[in-house]
Amino acid sequence: MADKVTKTLLDSIALQQYILDTSAYPREHEFLKELKVATMEKYGRWRELNIPSDEGLFLSMMLKLTGAKRTLEIGVFTGYSLLTTALAIPPDGQIIAIDTDKEAYEVGLPIIKKAGVEHKIKFIHSDAIPVLDKMIVEKEKEQGEGFDFVFVDADKTYYASYHERVMELLKVGGVVAYDNTLLYSTVIMGEDEARESLRSKGFGDELDGFIAGRASIIGFNKLLASDPRVEISQVSIGDGVTLCRRVK
Ligand SMILES: C[S@@+](CC[C@H](N)C(=O)[O-])C[C@H]1O[C@@H](n2cnc3c(N)ncnc32)[C@H](O)[C@@H]1O
Repeated sequence: MADKVTKTLLDSIALQQYILDTSAYPREHEFLKELKVATMEKYGRWRELNIPSDEGLFLSMMLKLTGAKRTLEIGVFTGYSLLTTALAIPPDGQIIAIDTDKEAYEVGLPIIKKAGVEHKIKFIHSDAIPVLDKMIVEKEKEQGEGFDFVFVDADKTYYASYHERVMELLKVGGVVAYDNTLLYSTVIMGEDEARESLRSKGFGDELDGFIAGRASIIGFNKLLASDPRVEISQVSIGDGVTLCRRVK
Protein backbone atom coordinates (compact mmCIF):
# COMPACT_ATOMS: atom_id res chain seq x y z
CA MET A 1 0.00 0.00 0.00
CA ALA A 2 1.65 3.24 -1.14
CA ASP A 3 0.30 5.65 1.48
CA LYS A 4 1.11 9.36 1.64
CA VAL A 5 4.09 10.61 3.64
CA THR A 6 2.97 11.92 7.02
CA LYS A 7 6.20 11.66 8.95
CA THR A 8 9.66 12.63 7.74
CA LEU A 9 12.69 14.50 8.98
CA LEU A 10 13.77 15.28 5.45
CA ASP A 11 13.10 18.78 4.13
CA SER A 12 11.65 17.29 1.01
CA ILE A 13 8.46 15.25 1.25
CA ALA A 14 9.08 14.20 -2.37
CA LEU A 15 12.47 12.76 -1.41
CA GLN A 16 10.95 10.77 1.45
CA GLN A 17 8.25 9.51 -0.92
CA TYR A 18 11.04 8.50 -3.33
CA ILE A 19 12.74 6.47 -0.56
CA LEU A 20 9.48 4.71 0.28
CA ASP A 21 8.46 4.08 -3.34
CA THR A 22 11.89 3.03 -4.53
CA SER A 23 13.27 0.92 -1.72
CA ALA A 24 10.81 0.42 1.15
CA TYR A 25 7.44 -0.52 -0.39
CA PRO A 26 8.88 -2.96 -2.95
CA ARG A 27 10.63 -4.78 -0.09
CA GLU A 28 7.88 -4.59 2.51
CA HIS A 29 6.62 -8.04 3.54
CA GLU A 30 3.09 -8.82 2.31
CA PHE A 31 1.90 -9.44 5.89
CA LEU A 32 3.24 -6.05 7.00
CA LYS A 33 1.32 -4.42 4.14
CA GLU A 34 -1.78 -6.27 5.31
CA LEU A 35 -1.22 -5.12 8.91
CA LYS A 36 -0.99 -1.50 7.73
CA VAL A 37 -4.31 -1.83 5.91
CA ALA A 38 -5.99 -3.37 8.99
CA THR A 39 -4.58 -0.56 11.14
CA MET A 40 -5.76 2.10 8.70
CA GLU A 41 -9.27 0.61 8.64
CA LYS A 42 -9.51 0.72 12.44
CA TYR A 43 -7.51 3.83 13.33
CA GLY A 44 -7.47 6.07 10.22
CA ARG A 45 -4.69 8.65 10.39
CA TRP A 46 -3.38 7.11 13.63
CA ARG A 47 -1.97 4.40 11.39
CA GLU A 48 1.10 6.63 11.64
CA LEU A 49 1.67 5.30 15.17
CA ASN A 50 3.12 2.26 13.37
CA ILE A 51 6.75 2.75 12.48
CA PRO A 52 7.10 3.70 8.78
CA SER A 53 8.07 1.06 6.23
CA ASP A 54 11.66 2.27 5.71
CA GLU A 55 12.23 2.17 9.49
CA GLY A 56 10.79 -1.35 9.51
CA LEU A 57 13.40 -2.47 6.98
CA PHE A 58 16.09 -0.77 9.08
CA LEU A 59 14.87 -2.56 12.23
CA SER A 60 14.83 -5.89 10.40
CA MET A 61 18.37 -5.29 9.13
CA MET A 62 19.59 -4.40 12.66
CA LEU A 63 18.06 -7.56 14.12
CA LYS A 64 19.70 -9.72 11.47
CA LEU A 65 23.10 -7.97 11.66
CA THR A 66 23.19 -8.38 15.44
CA GLY A 67 21.89 -11.97 15.27
CA ALA A 68 19.31 -11.06 17.90
CA LYS A 69 17.34 -13.97 19.34
CA ARG A 70 15.94 -12.78 22.68
CA THR A 71 14.17 -9.47 22.24
CA LEU A 72 11.92 -7.11 24.16
CA GLU A 73 9.46 -4.55 22.78
CA ILE A 74 7.88 -1.78 24.83
CA GLY A 75 4.97 -0.21 22.89
CA VAL A 76 3.27 -2.60 20.45
CA PHE A 77 0.08 -0.85 19.18
CA THR A 78 -1.19 -3.01 16.26
CA GLY A 79 2.19 -4.69 15.90
CA TYR A 80 4.06 -3.34 12.88
CA SER A 81 7.45 -3.34 14.63
CA LEU A 82 6.48 -6.54 16.46
CA LEU A 83 5.68 -8.45 13.26
CA THR A 84 8.82 -7.00 11.65
CA THR A 85 10.84 -8.38 14.58
CA ALA A 86 9.07 -11.74 14.56
CA LEU A 87 9.80 -12.14 10.84
CA ALA A 88 13.46 -11.14 11.28
CA ILE A 89 14.57 -13.27 14.24
CA PRO A 90 15.26 -17.02 13.91
CA PRO A 91 12.51 -19.69 14.29
CA ASP A 92 13.45 -20.27 17.95
CA GLY A 93 13.72 -16.53 18.71
CA GLN A 94 11.55 -14.93 21.40
CA ILE A 95 9.93 -11.53 21.84
CA ILE A 96 8.43 -10.23 25.05
CA ALA A 97 6.03 -7.48 23.96
CA ILE A 98 4.39 -5.12 26.44
CA ASP A 99 1.49 -2.72 25.90
CA THR A 100 -1.41 -1.30 27.89
CA ASP A 101 -3.62 -1.54 24.79
CA LYS A 102 -4.74 -5.11 24.10
CA GLU A 103 -7.45 -4.03 21.66
CA ALA A 104 -4.84 -2.54 19.30
CA TYR A 105 -2.67 -5.68 19.57
CA GLU A 106 -5.69 -7.77 18.59
CA VAL A 107 -6.04 -5.80 15.33
CA GLY A 108 -2.70 -7.15 14.13
CA LEU A 109 -2.86 -10.56 15.83
CA PRO A 110 -4.76 -12.44 13.06
CA ILE A 111 -2.07 -11.31 10.59
CA ILE A 112 0.73 -12.31 12.99
CA LYS A 113 -0.93 -15.74 13.22
CA LYS A 114 -1.28 -15.96 9.45
CA ALA A 115 2.44 -15.15 9.12
CA GLY A 116 3.15 -18.19 11.35
CA VAL A 117 5.21 -16.30 13.92
CA GLU A 118 2.85 -16.04 16.90
CA HIS A 119 4.80 -18.76 18.75
CA LYS A 120 7.76 -16.36 19.06
CA ILE A 121 5.69 -13.73 20.89
CA LYS A 122 4.71 -13.39 24.53
CA PHE A 123 2.37 -10.40 24.75
CA ILE A 124 2.01 -8.85 28.21
CA HIS A 125 -1.01 -6.59 28.63
CA SER A 126 0.26 -4.11 31.22
CA ASP A 127 1.91 -0.85 32.01
CA ALA A 128 5.58 -1.52 31.16
CA ILE A 129 7.32 -0.29 34.33
CA PRO A 130 6.03 -2.95 36.81
CA VAL A 131 6.68 -5.70 34.25
CA LEU A 132 10.26 -4.51 33.73
CA ASP A 133 10.81 -4.30 37.50
CA LYS A 134 9.60 -7.88 37.91
CA MET A 135 11.82 -9.04 35.07
CA ILE A 136 14.85 -7.41 36.73
CA VAL A 137 14.19 -9.28 40.00
CA GLU A 138 13.76 -12.59 38.10
CA LYS A 139 16.90 -12.00 36.06
CA GLU A 140 18.96 -11.37 39.20
CA LYS A 141 17.52 -14.48 40.87
CA GLU A 142 18.16 -16.71 37.88
CA GLN A 143 21.37 -14.91 36.82
CA GLY A 144 19.89 -14.76 33.30
CA GLU A 145 21.93 -13.50 30.39
CA GLY A 146 19.75 -10.61 29.23
CA PHE A 147 18.14 -9.47 25.99
CA ASP A 148 20.01 -9.19 22.71
CA PHE A 149 17.79 -6.41 21.39
CA VAL A 150 15.18 -4.04 22.83
CA PHE A 151 12.85 -1.72 20.90
CA VAL A 152 11.24 1.12 22.86
CA ASP A 153 8.28 2.93 21.28
CA ALA A 154 5.88 3.77 24.14
CA ASP A 155 5.03 6.82 26.27
CA LYS A 156 7.82 9.34 25.60
CA THR A 157 7.63 10.82 29.12
CA TYR A 158 8.91 7.51 30.51
CA TYR A 159 11.90 6.96 28.22
CA ALA A 160 14.44 7.81 30.95
CA SER A 161 12.71 5.36 33.34
CA TYR A 162 12.64 2.67 30.65
CA HIS A 163 16.32 3.27 29.96
CA GLU A 164 17.36 2.65 33.58
CA ARG A 165 15.48 -0.65 33.55
CA VAL A 166 16.58 -1.67 30.06
CA MET A 167 20.20 -1.22 31.15
CA GLU A 168 19.57 -3.95 33.75
CA LEU A 169 17.86 -6.26 31.26
CA LEU A 170 20.03 -5.86 28.15
CA LYS A 171 23.13 -8.02 27.89
CA VAL A 172 26.49 -6.25 27.53
CA GLY A 173 26.96 -5.93 23.76
CA GLY A 174 23.19 -5.89 23.24
CA VAL A 175 21.38 -3.05 21.45
CA VAL A 176 18.42 -0.92 22.46
CA ALA A 177 16.67 1.26 19.86
CA TYR A 178 14.57 4.22 21.05
CA ASP A 179 11.99 5.46 18.57
CA ASN A 180 10.82 9.07 18.03
CA THR A 181 13.94 10.71 19.44
CA LEU A 182 13.52 13.64 17.03
CA LEU A 183 9.75 13.82 17.61
CA TYR A 184 8.43 15.43 14.40
CA SER A 185 11.49 17.75 14.45
CA THR A 186 10.07 19.54 17.52
CA VAL A 187 13.24 18.90 19.56
CA ILE A 188 14.81 21.93 17.85
CA MET A 189 11.80 24.23 18.37
CA GLY A 190 10.61 26.39 21.23
CA GLU A 191 7.31 25.33 22.78
CA ASP A 192 5.15 27.80 20.83
CA GLU A 193 6.76 26.89 17.53
CA ALA A 194 6.39 23.19 18.36
CA ARG A 195 2.67 23.65 19.08
CA GLU A 196 2.22 25.53 15.80
CA SER A 197 4.14 22.93 13.83
CA LEU A 198 2.15 20.03 15.34
CA ARG A 199 -1.14 21.89 14.76
CA SER A 200 -0.18 22.30 11.09
CA LYS A 201 0.30 18.50 10.94
CA GLY A 202 -3.26 18.01 12.16
CA PHE A 203 -2.73 17.38 15.89
CA GLY A 204 -5.56 18.57 18.08
CA ASP A 205 -6.60 17.15 21.46
CA GLU A 206 -3.38 15.20 21.85
CA LEU A 207 -1.18 18.32 21.53
CA ASP A 208 -0.49 18.77 25.27
CA GLY A 209 0.65 15.15 25.59
CA PHE A 210 2.99 15.66 22.65
CA ILE A 211 4.43 18.83 24.16
CA ALA A 212 5.12 17.00 27.43
CA GLY A 213 6.70 14.18 25.43
CA ARG A 214 8.85 16.68 23.54
CA ALA A 215 10.31 18.10 26.79
CA SER A 216 11.08 14.57 28.01
CA ILE A 217 12.72 13.57 24.73
CA ILE A 218 14.93 16.68 24.76
CA GLY A 219 16.11 15.71 28.27
CA PHE A 220 16.43 12.06 27.28
CA ASN A 221 18.63 12.83 24.26
CA LYS A 222 20.99 14.77 26.57
CA LEU A 223 20.97 11.91 29.06
CA LEU A 224 21.93 9.35 26.39
CA ALA A 225 24.70 11.59 25.05
CA SER A 226 26.44 11.47 28.44
CA ASP A 227 25.64 7.89 29.52
CA PRO A 228 28.94 5.96 29.72
CA ARG A 229 27.11 2.60 29.75
CA VAL A 230 26.24 2.93 26.06
CA GLU A 231 27.65 3.84 22.66
CA ILE A 232 25.03 5.74 20.71
CA SER A 233 24.07 6.60 17.16
CA GLN A 234 21.24 8.98 16.33
CA VAL A 235 19.69 7.76 13.09
CA SER A 236 17.56 10.18 11.06
CA ILE A 237 15.02 7.66 9.83
CA GLY A 238 11.27 7.74 10.45
CA ASP A 239 10.81 10.05 13.42
CA GLY A 240 14.40 9.57 14.63
CA VAL A 241 15.80 6.40 16.16
CA THR A 242 18.64 6.34 18.67
CA LEU A 243 20.61 3.13 18.74
CA CYS A 244 22.47 2.34 21.96
CA ARG A 245 24.91 -0.51 22.34
CA ARG A 246 25.47 -1.45 25.97
CA VAL A 247 29.21 -1.45 26.67
CA LYS A 248 29.17 -1.93 30.46
C1 LIG B 1 3.65 4.52 18.84
S1 LIG B 1 2.74 3.20 19.47
C2 LIG B 1 3.74 1.79 19.13
C3 LIG B 1 3.82 1.46 17.68
C4 LIG B 1 4.45 0.13 17.35
N1 LIG B 1 5.82 0.07 17.79
C5 LIG B 1 4.35 -0.17 15.86
O1 LIG B 1 5.34 -0.04 15.13
O2 LIG B 1 3.25 -0.54 15.45
C6 LIG B 1 2.92 3.40 21.22
C7 LIG B 1 2.28 2.31 22.05
O3 LIG B 1 2.78 2.47 23.38
C8 LIG B 1 1.77 2.05 24.27
N2 LIG B 1 2.04 2.58 25.61
C9 LIG B 1 1.98 3.88 26.02
N3 LIG B 1 2.30 3.97 27.32
C10 LIG B 1 2.59 2.71 27.75
C11 LIG B 1 3.00 2.17 28.99
N4 LIG B 1 3.16 2.96 30.06
N5 LIG B 1 3.22 0.84 29.08
C12 LIG B 1 3.06 0.04 27.98
N6 LIG B 1 2.67 0.51 26.78
C13 LIG B 1 2.44 1.82 26.65
C14 LIG B 1 0.48 2.59 23.66
O4 LIG B 1 -0.64 1.88 24.14
C15 LIG B 1 0.75 2.41 22.17
O5 LIG B 1 0.15 1.24 21.67
